[in-house]
Amino acid sequence: MAVSFEAASDAPFEALWHIEQRAHPYPWSESLLRSCMSAPYWGEVITNPTTQGFYLFQQVLDEVTLMNLCVDPDAQGQGLGRALLSRALEKASAAGAAHCFLEVRASNAAAISLYQKLGFAEDGRRKGYYPTRDGREDAVLMSRTLPPPRPAEATQ
Ligand SMILES: CC(C)(COP(=O)(O)OP(=O)(O)OC[C@H]1O[C@@H](n2cnc3c(N)ncnc32)[C@H](O)[C@@H]1OP(=O)(O)O)[C@@H](O)C(=O)NCCC(=O)NCCS
Repeated sequence: MAVSFEAASDAPFEALWHIEQRAHPYPWSESLLRSCMSAPYWGEVITNPTTQGFYLFQQVLDEVTLMNLCVDPDAQGQGLGRALLSRALEKASAAGAAHCFLEVRASNAAAISLYQKLGFAEDGRRKGYYPTRDGREDAVLMSRTLPPPRPAEATQ
């Protein structure tokens, strides 16, 4: 797969906004997505050959929180989510992060499976945290440690 990555803040915002609305059953507002385009937020888009997904972190010192990870529905199931998250974790490590945290809807089996495959473990749950169409659902809290960057990455 010949994919490439670009800083989310350098990519056309409309491409991210388009994917956000298509990929998530409960998408962010446009203003929330825009607010994550500058520090302390950062991330990248994945291109193959058009923009097909993105991730966004919030970084505070040596901790990153995965705020968003999504792949356009037309491009899902082809390894792009795994490629994006692998890249995200490498970049976080290179940026000095030692711990990565995230929260995910308990019903989101695809994302939870991906997170488990890339080393995340459940830390706990926030009961009824997320609204749904007909009630509430739990947030699953997950985290993993990050290895120190490889020497070539530390200078990127
Ligand atoms: C979660 C998401 C990013 C995965 O992207 P993807 O490109 O489809 O994922 P990949 O093809 O790289 O698959 C990676 C792993 O994800 C899991 N996965 C993907 N689709 C799945 C599905 N329909 N059911 C169960 N697991 C699934 C599997 O563990 C898969 O590993 P495998 O290839 O060994 O089976 C994508 O489904 C998505 O954008 N969902 C909507 C947004 C979202 O929920 N984001 C996460 C919360 S913020």
